[in-house]
Amino acid sequence: MNDTSRAGGAASLDVSIASKDYHSASGRPLRALEDLRLTLPAGKAGAVVGPSGCGKTTLLRLIAGLDKDFVGTIALPEHGRLGMAFQEPRLLPWRSVSDNIRIAAPHVSEAEIAALLDELGLAEHATHFPRELSLGLARRVALARALAVKPDLLLLDEPLVSLDAALARDLREMIARLIDERRITTLIVTHDLREAIALGDKLFLLSARPAHVLATLDVPTPRRHLEKEAAEIIEARAREALAKARAEPPQSKQ
Ligand SMILES: Nc1ncnc2c1ncn2[C@@H]1O[C@H](COP(=O)(O)OP(=O)(O)O)[C@@H](O)[C@H]1O
Ligand SMILES: [Mg+2]
Repeated sequence: MNDTSRAGGAASLDVSIASKDYHSASGRPLRALEDLRLTLPAGKAGAVVGPSGCGKTTLLRLIAGLDKDFVGTIALPEHGRLGMAFQEPRLLPWRSVSDNIRIAAPHVSEAEIAALLDELGLAEHATHFPRELSLGLARRVALARALAVKPDLLLLDEPLVSLDAALARDLREMIARLIDERRITTLIVTHDLREAIALGDKLFLLSARPAHVLATLDVPTPRRHLEKEAAEIIEARAREALAKARAEPPQSKQ
Protein backbone atom coordinates (compact mmCIF):
# COMPACT_ATOMS: atom_id res chain seq x y z
CA MET A 1 0.00 0.00 0.00
CA ASN A 2 2.83 2.40 0.82
CA ASP A 3 4.77 1.30 -2.26
CA THR A 4 4.00 4.00 -4.79
CA SER A 5 5.37 1.93 -7.66
CA ARG A 6 2.18 0.02 -7.41
CA ALA A 7 0.09 3.13 -8.03
CA GLY A 8 -2.36 2.68 -10.85
CA GLY A 9 -2.38 -1.10 -10.66
CA ALA A 10 -4.57 -3.46 -8.68
CA ALA A 11 -2.40 -3.61 -5.59
CA SER A 12 -4.69 -5.90 -3.65
CA LEU A 13 -5.69 -9.48 -4.27
CA ASP A 14 -9.37 -9.49 -5.22
CA VAL A 15 -11.17 -12.78 -5.42
CA SER A 16 -14.76 -13.11 -6.52
CA ILE A 17 -15.68 -16.67 -7.36
CA ALA A 18 -19.31 -17.36 -8.23
CA SER A 19 -18.75 -21.10 -8.44
CA LYS A 20 -16.15 -23.81 -8.87
CA ASP A 21 -17.38 -27.30 -9.73
CA TYR A 22 -15.42 -30.51 -10.18
CA HIS A 23 -16.73 -32.88 -12.83
CA SER A 24 -16.18 -36.57 -12.50
CA ALA A 25 -16.57 -38.85 -15.50
CA SER A 26 -19.73 -40.45 -14.17
CA GLY A 27 -21.47 -38.77 -11.23
CA ARG A 28 -22.97 -35.32 -10.84
CA PRO A 29 -20.73 -32.27 -10.39
CA LEU A 30 -19.23 -31.55 -7.00
CA ARG A 31 -19.44 -27.88 -6.00
CA ALA A 32 -16.27 -26.92 -4.16
CA LEU A 33 -16.68 -23.11 -3.94
CA GLU A 34 -19.76 -20.91 -4.15
CA ASP A 35 -20.00 -17.13 -3.95
CA LEU A 36 -16.57 -16.81 -2.36
CA ARG A 37 -15.33 -13.22 -2.14
CA LEU A 38 -12.29 -11.84 -0.41
CA THR A 39 -9.98 -8.84 -0.70
CA LEU A 40 -6.48 -8.85 0.70
CA PRO A 41 -4.75 -5.45 0.76
CA ALA A 42 -1.17 -5.21 -0.54
CA GLY A 43 1.52 -6.10 1.94
CA LYS A 44 -0.87 -7.89 4.29
CA ALA A 45 -1.00 -11.51 5.34
CA GLY A 46 -4.41 -13.11 5.00
CA ALA A 47 -5.21 -16.41 6.66
CA VAL A 48 -7.96 -18.53 5.13
CA VAL A 49 -9.33 -20.89 7.77
CA GLY A 50 -11.81 -23.63 7.09
CA PRO A 51 -12.60 -27.26 7.86
CA SER A 52 -10.87 -30.08 6.05
CA GLY A 53 -12.31 -30.68 2.59
CA CYS A 54 -14.12 -27.32 2.38
CA GLY A 55 -12.22 -26.12 -0.69
CA LYS A 56 -9.11 -24.30 0.58
CA THR A 57 -6.58 -25.94 -1.72
CA THR A 58 -9.04 -25.53 -4.58
CA LEU A 59 -9.12 -21.78 -3.85
CA LEU A 60 -5.31 -21.53 -3.83
CA ARG A 61 -5.05 -23.44 -7.09
CA LEU A 62 -7.51 -21.04 -8.73
CA ILE A 63 -5.60 -18.00 -7.43
CA ALA A 64 -2.33 -19.54 -8.65
CA GLY A 65 -3.82 -20.03 -12.12
CA LEU A 66 -3.27 -23.80 -11.94
CA ASP A 67 -6.98 -24.38 -12.54
CA LYS A 68 -8.88 -22.03 -14.81
CA ASP A 69 -12.16 -23.92 -14.80
CA PHE A 70 -14.34 -21.70 -12.59
CA VAL A 71 -16.92 -18.92 -12.82
CA GLY A 72 -15.76 -15.58 -11.43
CA THR A 73 -12.83 -13.21 -11.42
CA ILE A 74 -9.49 -13.08 -9.63
CA ALA A 75 -7.35 -9.92 -9.74
CA LEU A 76 -3.78 -10.49 -8.63
CA PRO A 77 -1.52 -7.85 -7.08
CA GLU A 78 0.34 -5.80 -9.67
CA HIS A 79 2.99 -7.71 -11.69
CA GLY A 80 1.39 -10.90 -10.46
CA ARG A 81 4.56 -12.85 -9.75
CA LEU A 82 3.61 -15.81 -7.63
CA GLY A 83 5.44 -17.86 -5.05
CA MET A 84 3.62 -20.94 -3.86
CA ALA A 85 4.39 -23.62 -1.31
CA PHE A 86 2.13 -26.64 -1.54
CA GLN A 87 1.06 -28.80 1.36
CA GLU A 88 3.47 -31.47 0.07
CA PRO A 89 6.85 -29.80 -0.49
CA ARG A 90 7.09 -31.17 -4.08
CA LEU A 91 10.87 -30.82 -4.35
CA LEU A 92 12.73 -32.32 -7.30
CA PRO A 93 14.11 -35.52 -5.74
CA TRP A 94 17.23 -35.78 -7.90
CA ARG A 95 18.33 -32.19 -7.23
CA SER A 96 20.10 -30.73 -4.22
CA VAL A 97 18.44 -28.18 -1.97
CA SER A 98 20.25 -25.26 -3.62
CA ASP A 99 19.52 -26.63 -7.11
CA ASN A 100 15.82 -26.88 -6.27
CA ILE A 101 15.88 -23.15 -5.56
CA ARG A 102 18.15 -22.29 -8.51
CA ILE A 103 15.86 -24.06 -10.99
CA ALA A 104 12.78 -22.24 -9.70
CA ALA A 105 14.53 -18.87 -9.74
CA PRO A 106 17.21 -18.97 -12.48
CA HIS A 107 17.74 -15.19 -12.51
CA VAL A 108 18.57 -14.98 -8.84
CA SER A 109 22.26 -14.61 -7.96
CA GLU A 110 24.24 -17.22 -6.06
CA ALA A 111 24.76 -14.68 -3.28
CA GLU A 112 21.01 -14.21 -2.95
CA ILE A 113 20.40 -17.95 -2.85
CA ALA A 114 23.06 -18.33 -0.17
CA ALA A 115 21.51 -15.49 1.85
CA LEU A 116 18.07 -17.06 1.59
CA LEU A 117 19.34 -20.48 2.67
CA ASP A 118 21.09 -18.84 5.58
CA GLU A 119 17.99 -16.91 6.59
CA LEU A 120 15.91 -20.09 6.63
CA GLY A 121 18.52 -22.05 8.58
CA LEU A 122 19.25 -24.24 5.55
CA ALA A 123 22.88 -23.33 4.83
CA GLU A 124 24.24 -26.64 6.09
CA HIS A 125 21.70 -28.54 3.96
CA ALA A 126 22.49 -26.78 0.66
CA THR A 127 24.04 -29.88 -0.91
CA HIS A 128 21.57 -32.37 0.58
CA PHE A 129 18.93 -34.12 -1.48
CA PRO A 130 15.22 -34.03 -0.60
CA ARG A 131 15.22 -37.65 0.63
CA GLU A 132 17.76 -36.64 3.28
CA LEU A 133 15.46 -33.97 4.72
CA SER A 134 12.80 -34.19 7.41
CA LEU A 135 9.34 -32.85 6.51
CA GLY A 136 10.07 -29.67 8.50
CA LEU A 137 13.27 -29.02 6.54
CA ALA A 138 11.62 -29.89 3.23
CA ARG A 139 8.87 -27.35 4.00
CA ARG A 140 11.54 -24.74 4.65
CA VAL A 141 13.15 -25.50 1.29
CA ALA A 142 9.74 -25.16 -0.38
CA LEU A 143 9.32 -21.82 1.38
CA ALA A 144 12.80 -20.68 0.29
CA ARG A 145 11.95 -21.69 -3.28
CA ALA A 146 8.71 -19.71 -3.17
CA LEU A 147 10.50 -16.64 -1.77
CA ALA A 148 13.41 -16.86 -4.21
CA VAL A 149 11.26 -15.67 -7.11
CA LYS A 150 10.60 -12.43 -5.17
CA PRO A 151 6.86 -12.90 -5.39
CA ASP A 152 4.24 -10.17 -5.43
CA LEU A 153 1.92 -12.75 -3.92
CA LEU A 154 2.95 -15.65 -1.71
CA LEU A 155 0.55 -18.58 -1.37
CA LEU A 156 1.11 -21.10 1.43
CA ASP A 157 -1.05 -24.22 1.70
CA GLU A 158 -1.15 -25.65 5.25
CA PRO A 159 2.52 -24.82 5.90
CA LEU A 160 2.56 -26.34 9.40
CA VAL A 161 0.37 -29.42 8.98
CA SER A 162 1.83 -32.78 10.12
CA LEU A 163 4.76 -31.18 11.98
CA ASP A 164 5.20 -31.89 15.67
CA ALA A 165 4.39 -29.01 18.03
CA ALA A 166 7.94 -27.69 18.50
CA LEU A 167 8.78 -27.80 14.79
CA ALA A 168 5.44 -26.21 13.91
CA ARG A 169 6.14 -23.38 16.35
CA ASP A 170 9.65 -22.79 14.92
CA LEU A 171 8.40 -22.72 11.34
CA ARG A 172 5.43 -20.54 12.29
CA GLU A 173 7.76 -17.99 13.89
CA MET A 174 10.01 -18.12 10.86
CA ILE A 175 7.10 -17.50 8.47
CA ALA A 176 5.79 -14.66 10.66
CA ARG A 177 9.23 -13.01 10.65
CA LEU A 178 9.69 -13.42 6.90
CA ILE A 179 6.32 -11.98 5.96
CA ASP A 180 6.71 -9.13 8.45
CA GLU A 181 10.14 -8.18 7.13
CA ARG A 182 9.39 -8.56 3.45
CA ARG A 183 5.83 -7.21 3.51
CA ILE A 184 4.81 -9.57 0.73
CA THR A 185 1.10 -9.94 0.17
CA THR A 186 0.60 -13.46 1.53
CA LEU A 187 -2.34 -15.82 1.64
CA ILE A 188 -2.00 -18.71 4.06
CA VAL A 189 -4.44 -21.58 4.11
CA THR A 190 -4.99 -23.57 7.28
CA HIS A 191 -7.62 -25.58 9.13
CA ASP A 192 -6.22 -24.34 12.46
CA LEU A 193 -7.69 -21.11 13.83
CA ARG A 194 -4.82 -20.49 16.28
CA GLU A 195 -2.27 -20.87 13.52
CA ALA A 196 -4.28 -18.40 11.42
CA ILE A 197 -4.32 -15.87 14.25
CA ALA A 198 -0.58 -16.27 14.76
CA LEU A 199 0.15 -15.64 11.07
CA GLY A 200 -2.59 -13.44 9.61
CA ASP A 201 -3.35 -9.72 9.68
CA LYS A 202 -6.77 -10.64 8.37
CA LEU A 203 -8.73 -13.82 8.91
CA PHE A 204 -11.13 -15.18 6.31
CA LEU A 205 -13.34 -17.77 7.99
CA LEU A 206 -14.75 -20.25 5.52
CA SER A 207 -17.90 -22.35 5.64
CA ALA A 208 -18.01 -26.07 5.00
CA ARG A 209 -18.10 -27.06 1.29
CA PRO A 210 -19.09 -25.37 -0.93
CA ALA A 211 -16.78 -22.81 0.68
CA HIS A 212 -17.67 -19.16 1.01
CA VAL A 213 -16.41 -16.54 3.45
CA LEU A 214 -18.61 -16.59 6.55
CA ALA A 215 -16.77 -13.80 8.34
CA THR A 216 -13.69 -11.60 7.99
CA LEU A 217 -11.75 -10.47 11.06
CA ASP A 218 -8.78 -8.17 11.52
CA VAL A 219 -5.95 -9.18 13.83
CA PRO A 220 -5.04 -5.75 15.18
CA THR A 221 -1.79 -6.46 17.01
CA PRO A 222 1.41 -7.05 15.05
CA ARG A 223 2.05 -10.79 14.97
CA ARG A 224 5.30 -10.80 16.88
CA HIS A 225 3.81 -8.87 19.78
CA LEU A 226 0.57 -10.80 20.02
CA GLU A 227 0.24 -11.87 23.65
CA LYS A 228 -1.47 -15.12 24.54
CA GLU A 229 -4.46 -13.30 26.07
CA ALA A 230 -4.92 -11.09 23.00
CA ALA A 231 -4.79 -14.16 20.75
CA GLU A 232 -7.40 -15.87 22.91
CA ILE A 233 -9.70 -12.85 22.64
CA ILE A 234 -9.43 -12.92 18.85
CA GLU A 235 -10.05 -16.67 18.86
CA ALA A 236 -13.22 -16.19 20.92
CA ARG A 237 -14.33 -13.41 18.58
CA ALA A 238 -13.74 -15.64 15.56
CA ARG A 239 -15.74 -18.51 17.07
CA GLU A 240 -18.55 -16.08 17.88
CA ALA A 241 -18.54 -14.69 14.33
CA LEU A 242 -18.67 -18.24 12.95
CA ALA A 243 -21.55 -19.25 15.21
CA LYS A 244 -23.45 -16.10 14.25
CA ALA A 245 -22.86 -16.54 10.52
CA ARG A 246 -23.99 -20.17 10.70
CA ALA A 247 -27.14 -19.17 12.56
CA GLU A 248 -28.03 -16.57 9.91
CA PRO A 249 -27.45 -18.06 6.45
CA PRO A 250 -27.40 -15.37 3.72
CA GLN A 251 -30.73 -14.99 1.91
CA SER A 252 -29.15 -15.46 -1.49
CA LYS A 253 -28.36 -19.10 -0.75
CA GLN A 254 -30.79 -21.72 -1.98
N1 LIG B 1 -9.42 -32.78 -8.77
C1 LIG B 1 -10.52 -33.02 -8.08
N2 LIG B 1 -11.57 -33.70 -8.62
C2 LIG B 1 -12.71 -33.91 -7.94
N3 LIG B 1 -12.92 -33.48 -6.68
C3 LIG B 1 -11.93 -32.78 -6.09
C4 LIG B 1 -10.68 -32.52 -6.74
N4 LIG B 1 -9.89 -31.82 -5.90
C5 LIG B 1 -10.60 -31.66 -4.77
N5 LIG B 1 -11.82 -32.23 -4.88
C6 LIG B 1 -12.88 -32.21 -3.87
O1 LIG B 1 -13.22 -30.84 -3.61
C7 LIG B 1 -13.45 -30.65 -2.24
C8 LIG B 1 -12.50 -29.59 -1.72
O2 LIG B 1 -11.17 -30.10 -1.75
P1 LIG B 1 -9.91 -29.26 -1.28
O3 LIG B 1 -9.92 -27.94 -1.97
O4 LIG B 1 -8.71 -30.10 -1.44
O5 LIG B 1 -10.25 -29.05 0.28
P2 LIG B 1 -9.33 -28.56 1.50
O6 LIG B 1 -8.04 -28.09 0.93
O7 LIG B 1 -10.12 -27.47 2.16
O8 LIG B 1 -9.16 -29.73 2.41
C9 LIG B 1 -13.28 -32.01 -1.56
O9 LIG B 1 -14.56 -32.58 -1.45
C10 LIG B 1 -12.42 -32.77 -2.54
O10 LIG B 1 -12.66 -34.15 -2.46
MG1 LIG C 1 -6.06 -28.72 1.30
